Parts: sequence; C-alpha cells; structure tokens
Amino acid sequence: MLKIGVFDSGLGGLTVVKSLSQIIKNTELFYIADTKNAPYGEKTTEQILQYSLDITHYFIKNHQIDALVVACNTATSVAIKTLRKKYPELIIVGTEPAVKPAIEQTKTAKVGVLATPATLRGDKYQVLVKKLSNIKEVKLFEQACPGLVEHIENGTLENKESLILLEAWLNPMKKADVDTIVLGCTHYPLASKIIKKIMATDVVLLDSSKAIAKRLLTLLLETGHKNEGELYSKFYTTGKIDEKFVENLIRSSIEFIAL
Ligand code: DGL
Repeated sequence: MLKIGVFDSGLGGLTVVKSLSQIIKNTELFYIADTKNAPYGEKTTEQILQYSLDITHYFIKNHQIDALVVACNTATSVAIKTLRKKYPELIIVGTEPAVKPAIEQTKTAKVGVLATPATLRGDKYQVLVKKLSNIKEVKLFEQACPGLVEHIENGTLENKESLILLEAWLNPMKKADVDTIVLGCTHYPLASKIIKKIMATDVVLLDSSKAIAKRLLTLLLETGHKNEGELYSKFYTTGKIDEKFVENLIRSSIEFIAL
C-alpha cells in the first residue's frame, strides 16, 4: 500500500484531505497539523522552511512515505523547491492559489485573492500572476488576511472582531463588483459561509483542493499505482487543536506528536 504524508499548519489542510479521500485509494495517508507553529503565514521564510523540512523528515523516518502533499499555500511558496531538490525520489505535490481558473471564469474581470501575508509577498505568487497576466486583462484585488487563520483554528470566526476584519477586507471587493474570489490559503474554505454572507452576491469561491487531488492521482498512476480499495488515514497534531471540529470534518480522531 502506498504511503502519503500531508501537512499544513493546522486545520486548513484537512480541506485538501477531504478531496484526496474522494479519489485516492489503496493508500495510507498520514496528516500532520503543525499547530504548535501556526500561523505559518505570519512567520519568516526561514522558519516556514524549517517547519516544512522537519515534517518531511519525520514522515520519511517514521512512515517511509512515497508521496508528500504540502497542503498549505504558504509552505509551498517557501519550501517546495528545496523539498524537491532534497528529496528527488519523493512524489511531491504543492498548493498554489487557484488564480488561473479564476481569471478564466470571471465575467466582471475583477478577481479577489485572499491569502496569507507570506504567500502574497512570495516570489512564487508574483511569478504566477505575471505568467497569467497575458490570458486576459483582469483586475486582481489581493488581500492578505493576518489573523484569519487564528480565528478559524480557535472557532471564533463569528466573533465581532473577526467580522470587522473580514468586512474591511471584502467590502472593497464587493463595491468593485468582484465576482470570483480565490481562497489562497487552505484554511479559508472553512470560512466560505461567512465570506459569501458578507459579499451578499453570487460570488464564486475557488480553492485548489480538487486540483491537488487530481494532480496527485495522475502522478501516482504514472508510477503504476493501482487505485482500487481503501484509503486509511491517521491524523496527528503538534499542539492544541479543536478536536471536535476535526472529528466533524474528517470523522476521525487526532493524536498529539512531538516532532
Ligand atoms: N493553510 C495555510 C495556507 O494554505 C497556512 C495558514 C497559516 O498557517 O498561516 O497558506
């Protein structure tokens, strides 16, 4: 049975696990929520790189993984190149904001991009946007959302403080007739309901989880993987996490580990 390691700073990557579990079979999946070090998006490049390397090392040493899914835009932006170089034998799939599908499908030519500060300032995002700028002329409303990951992790999304932040970030998009918003952090699909409520329009929210699952399946099939049977998952956290939330989302319990 193939072994896959998946990680994020916390609950966010579980939105990716959900999509993986819909199409990937005959696999053991290990998930690490690195909540001890969350939020990644507000850490330095060096710190994010070190967390990514430590987790990958842990997966290889303890679970002999064949594939790694970096279920985090921020860690992908900082660490994917180094991970690929260091572990050339590993199948590695990262997470990139779904800007391309958003540009292709917007009707108002106005697209919002919500992401962590580290993702938006990273070269990877800048290069992506530059590359896509010749598809068609679209105005991007880029918005870093410091603090949002903590509200999601702490279950305080509906609090006044969180609503004030979200309204300040989303109102300019609403006024400008943005019809598509890229959820450029794997945590943000967990805030979809409230984002839609504030936008109060038929805004389309795009995340990358289905594309990641598809990409991983393609790469696995290329290695001769037989995609039939079960997917067994095991979930670990390095710090505090809302266990009830995890159980509701993935119908499984989560165990503490020290890396
Ligand atoms: N979920 C992550 C991402 O996709 C990281 C969020 C954070 O820890 O700041 O960027």
